[in-house]
Amino acid sequence: MSTQTSGPAIETAGLVKTFGETRAVDGVDLTVPTGTVYGVLGPNGAGKTTTVKMLATLLRPDGGEARVFGHDVVRDADAVRSRVSLTGQYASVDEDLTGTENLILLGRLLGHRKATARERAAQLLEAFGLTEAAGKQVKHYSGGMRRRIDIAASILNTPDLLFLDEPTTGLDPRSRNQVWDIVRAVVAQGTTVLLTTQYLDEADQLASRIAVIDKGRVIAEGTKGELKASVGAGSVHVRLRDPERRADAERLLRDLLLAEVQLEHDPVALTARLNAATSDSAADQAARALTELSRAGVTVDNFSLGQPSLDEVFLALTGHDTGAADGADNDPKDEVAA
Ligand SMILES: Nc1ncnc2c1ncn2[C@@H]1O[C@H](COP(=O)(O)OP(=O)(O)OP(=O)(O)O)[C@@H](O)[C@H]1O
Ligand SMILES: [Mg+2]
Repeated sequence: MSTQTSGPAIETAGLVKTFGETRAVDGVDLTVPTGTVYGVLGPNGAGKTTTVKMLATLLRPDGGEARVFGHDVVRDADAVRSRVSLTGQYASVDEDLTGTENLILLGRLLGHRKATARERAAQLLEAFGLTEAAGKQVKHYSGGMRRRIDIAASILNTPDLLFLDEPTTGLDPRSRNQVWDIVRAVVAQGTTVLLTTQYLDEADQLASRIAVIDKGRVIAEGTKGELKASVGAGSVHVRLRDPERRADAERLLRDLLLAEVQLEHDPVALTARLNAATSDSAADQAARALTELSRAGVTVDNFSLGQPSLDEVFLALTGHDTGAADGADNDPKDEVAA
């Protein structure tokens, strides 16, 4: 087998998939370096699953090219399949089997001897904190346990490339953290991970590089730092005691933080988008803002510090929010340098 040892894990050029009138994937160019987590960030219907399915050889592209470790996903599909594993948004373990039974069965299907399959199953269940649940049918697992067994199943044979399609959507914060730890452990073993997500904070936690996609197109690509810098460092939300002082507060925040200040419907509330171009952290900028407000005699009843959300990223990049995608062209305003 001609196995490429250096070069990117994934390379696509002009990848296209259409379903009737819908251009689900509309000319995607991606380069995913080996040995890292690459985040594909986008809202519902952006084309994430469709892209992953083409890369995993489950869907045939209608245009463009994609290579996985140098193998063409159409012409060398078998070679691609031997190197990748997919944990789907709708995953593939058997609900009626127990955790142990599922992993042993899959191990056997992958060609392991019974003793090896059993041993590997036990190791993975232990590593994923599922030892106690090992004998329970998967249909009785919680959402978080289910996601963990799905990932365990997909790394039975340490793949070179693992696709994780929205691995934490719908999970509570604790389960999300457990899945994140697993992803980090998988990467530490040398697997490249392509992760799709709707959450900026998830991409932020795990990914080295991020591609933001919308309506089947990559609208921004870069490191986390580059991406965030294009959006701002987050925002500080302030509620004042006295609505009469809001204009003063607005002026002060604008001058002090060189920030865009937005007045909320609530007559005592305003939000300042923090400046990403300074070396001051968001917390430092917020602290300075509060000090100056207090010095100016503007009483602040409460405040909060917000990370930029996916919605803000979208707004900054496309001029529209993630939900209200109208028919208008989505020219990238602030494309991140690759
Ligand atoms: N088999 C299919 N037949 C018809 N249309 C499809 C099919 N699969 C996907 N689509 C359409 O293609 C577009 C992209 O879908 P895709 O599932 O790739 O999005 P996604 O980014 O994974 O979204 P989500 O976050 O909701 O999982 C959507 O408009 C979807 O309705
Ligand atoms: Mg999807």
